[in-house]
Amino acid sequence: MALRINDTIPDLSVDTDLGSFSLHDWIGESWAILFSHPKDFTPVCTTEFGAVARLGAEWDARGTKVIGISVDGVEEHKRWKADIETVGGTAPGFPIIADTGLEVSKAFDMLPAEAYLPEGATPADSQTVRAVFIVGPDKKLKLSMTYPMTVGRNFAEVLRALDALQTSAGHGVATPADWQVGDDVIIPTAVSNEDAAAKFGAFETVLPYIRKTKLPVKG
Ligand code: BEZ
Repeated sequence: MALRINDTIPDLSVDTDLGSFSLHDWIGESWAILFSHPKDFTPVCTTEFGAVARLGAEWDARGTKVIGISVDGVEEHKRWKADIETVGGTAPGFPIIADTGLEVSKAFDMLPAEAYLPEGATPADSQTVRAVFIVGPDKKLKLSMTYPMTVGRNFAEVLRALDALQTSAGHGVATPADWQVGDDVIIPTAVSNEDAAAKFGAFETVLPYIRKTKLPVKG
């Protein structure tokens, strides 16, 4: 069964090009992003990994570890990283899981529908789709998104969603459509006007159920 938001992610032992460890140990007290790709040495995947590598300082600034995964092996991952650096301009410092036995892919439901057919599945069907899992320090799934093989992901959106999750977790607020850091946030409907004033100070009532407020700017 697919992982659902607020499920604790499975604490699997994984082999990566940077060593073997348990997923929960690796996450530790950090936030984490696990992202899958179908195959090493392929065009879209190589551009995606370059994009994640270039955002290294942004992940660090948010206390977030990233880890890639495909069904290729450790040696392929090591060799592919040179191509990622050539194409993306930055060396990928994060580990890539070698899920040759498909344990992680199955546990996170990363395989395409064809891979689950009892007959007719080929090795090509067992390539993972482009999934993203954002996991909190409590090891619970906070957000997931799934893209097909033909569409490279927008990692600026992954970063924006991470900002929204961390803001929501840190301040007990929600974020509106297209929210960016610094924009007004939404006070949850479960909070009374009295409690909202005590917690956030001034707020704008757009509609009785849409109340917006500013968060203190980080110093
Ligand atoms: C890619 O471009 O990332 C890709 C192409 C073919 C198979 C898998 C991935």
